[in-house]
Order: sequence, then structure tokens, then C-alpha cells
Amino acid sequence: MPTFDPQSIRADFPILDQEINGKPLVYLDNAATSQTPRQVIEASTGYYSKINANIHRGAHKLAREATLAHEAARGTVARHLNSRHEHEIIFTSGTTDSINLVSNTLSLSGKIGQGDSVIISGLEHHSNIVPWQMLCERTGATLKVIPVLDDGTLDMDGYHALLNNSVKLVAVNHVSNALGTINPIEAIVSAAKQHDALVLLDGAQAAPHMGIDVQELGCDFYAFSGHKIYGPTGIGVLYGREEILEELPPWRGGGEMIKEVTFEHTTYNDLPFKYEAGTPDIEGAIALAAALDYMNGLGMENIAAHERQLQELATAGLKEIDGIRLFGTAPEKAAVVSFLLGNIHHYDLGTLIDQMGVAVRTGHHCCQPLMARFGITGTVRASFAAYNTEEEVAIFINAVKKAAMMLG
Ligand code: ALA
Repeated sequence: MPTFDPQSIRADFPILDQEINGKPLVYLDNAATSQTPRQVIEASTGYYSKINANIHRGAHKLAREATLAHEAARGTVARHLNSRHEHEIIFTSGTTDSINLVSNTLSLSGKIGQGDSVIISGLEHHSNIVPWQMLCERTGATLKVIPVLDDGTLDMDGYHALLNNSVKLVAVNHVSNALGTINPIEAIVSAAKQHDALVLLDGAQAAPHMGIDVQELGCDFYAFSGHKIYGPTGIGVLYGREEILEELPPWRGGGEMIKEVTFEHTTYNDLPFKYEAGTPDIEGAIALAAALDYMNGLGMENIAAHERQLQELATAGLKEIDGIRLFGTAPEKAAVVSFLLGNIHHYDLGTLIDQMGVAVRTGHHCCQPLMARFGITGTVRASFAAYNTEEEVAIFINAVKKAAMMLG
């Protein structure tokens, strides 16, 4: 087996080979969007230059080839997630769209109503908060929130205290985007299942960093996005357990999701097409599958081990800087360091290190309630990918030190 070599991985990513403000680009904003290897770019351009056609419709050769490639992509996702069936994989526009699909179909289903409740956690991204608030507004259900402890882990006693038979759904992230905490999914799912609650996992920040086995996780829904796994924007996945996807009604109406339409009545298509109205993002699905192939070629365990090393190096380097406050110090973390420096505003720090070629995200990371929990408005977040190197971590730490001297 070839050794894991970030330098040779970098050669696959044309965008990394450039200067920003006269300095080599150090891209540490991977939790927002990861970069794209030429294998994925080629899958995308290959689609448009060779087989572009609408799928499941035409009688011609290109239509057949595009259909086959799109459905092969679904198969790749199913194998990657170890779902029981390929038709449990729904293509969406991203994690947000996947969660909204579940929230809307559940709202319509009548399975949740007055007196019922939905549990989320204090670690959630707005995309795993707002759709559930909307569901509660529509159905009369109550939203309950698992508290977050000082190290950025979930208060599991608090979780158990919220659980009872009124809980119809538990929706939590697998990994926190703002802090990197890896949540104890096994314990969360098994407790939820004792109360027959459905479980949705927001896997946007886990899918880039670890292998996912939906059967082992025991969840009912799993959502992730293409653009955080070295794939394109605008495409994502919802895994849904067959039985529950069969029970829920469709959400969006249009072509492809139907069996038969008259002005009086419409019958709906089988899974997965019942949830895929309209012409899908065919190229996106094919390129997303190419991204999964790319990651599996590197090895998910190799990626995780490399990123863990970078995260530990960055954490140790930051801790040496006077005035650093780290947010998220859970023992189990994935590829993120989130911090503040003295009284310096996160945006000022991020802007200054951008001048030195280092790209990080600053702000609330779409987690305003989590920021409020820590009494802050935002953090500086560096997040790692397979192509980042120890040298880049050293450049990042030096940039923060320089910024500390300039702004301090
Ligand atoms: N959810 C993405 C992030 O955490 C955009 O940056």
C-alpha cells in the first residue's frame, strides 16, 4: 500500500499552487469548502464534454449513458455509506437541502404533532436548527436542546433528561463544524431508539474525515455535502432508511417523482425518485462519486490520522501563544481548531493572516446559539484536509504570532 504523502496529494489540486498577497496559499478553510482534485474536475468536464443529456427520459445513447453514470454514482454513495439499498440514497443540493427534505416531509406526514418534541443539540449549525424550528411552528411540537459542556462536548446527562416518549426525532451533528467535537453517536442513537425516536445525523463535517457506516451508526437519516468532501458545490446526499422513506410523503412535486399524472390525481414514483423532482444535478452526482473514489483511494483512516496530527500540532502551537483561548477541547475531535486571541476581534485576526497567505474562517460559523453559549460573537477557525502539511501548520502558527504582535 502506498504511503500517505500530502505533497503528492497536493499535486492533484491545481488551485493550491498559487500565491495570495505574494505568499504561497495556505488553505485552512476546509470545513467551509474543501478544494477539488483534478480527478473530480475531470469527472465533471468529462460529463459535459462526452455524455451530457437528461436522464431517465431519452431513447438515445447519450441519455442512456448519462442515466447509467448517474445511477452508478448513487451506487458509489450507497457502498461508501454501507446502506442496505441504493434507493436509500437521495441526491439533494447539499446537507441543508437534505435536512429540509426530512423536516418538510415529516411536517407533512402527521407523524409529529402537538405534545411531541424534537431534540437537537447546542452544537448545531443553523441548518440543523432552523428547519426543526419551522417544523415545530407548523406542527405544534416542542424543540428541546442538549446542553454543551465547557470543553465543547455534549452534556449526555442533559440529553438523557430530555428523552421521553414524546420525542419523535433526535437531530444532531456527527461532528461540530465550529469546534470539531466528534459526538458519541452510538450512545445518542441507542438512547433515542429506546424511545422509538427517529435519528437524523448531520454528517457535513464527519464525511470528509472518517468512514461512515449508516447501518453500524443505526441512524434513520444521514446528510452530507459534496463540496466538503473534495467534490462540487450544489450537490449533496440524504441517506434515509427504506421503511421510513417509504412511509413519508414526497415534498417537491414535478417531473421524475411521478408514476402517473392526471388533472384529478397523481401517483408517485418509487424510491429514490419520489424525492428527486425535476432534472437533477447529473454532473454533480457523478463528480461527487469521483470525490468519494478519490478519498477512498487515499484511505479514510489515513486521512483521519494525518488530519489528527495536524490538529494536534496546531493546538500545541496555539497554546504557546500568550492570550490564546481555545474553544472546543474535546478528547475526540476532527480537523478543526477554533480560537480567539486576547481582545482582538476574530475578523481582524483573520484579515491580517490572509495578508500572509493563510485562509481561515472567522465569525459565528452559522452557530450563533453555540457562540452565545460561550459568551462570544465568533472565533477564528482553522480546518484541515488531506493535502495540508506540517509546514503549513507552522506558517499558520507564525502568522498568528505576527498578528498578535501587530494587533496586541
Ligand atoms: N458550514 C460551513 C462552515 O462551517 C459553511 O464553514
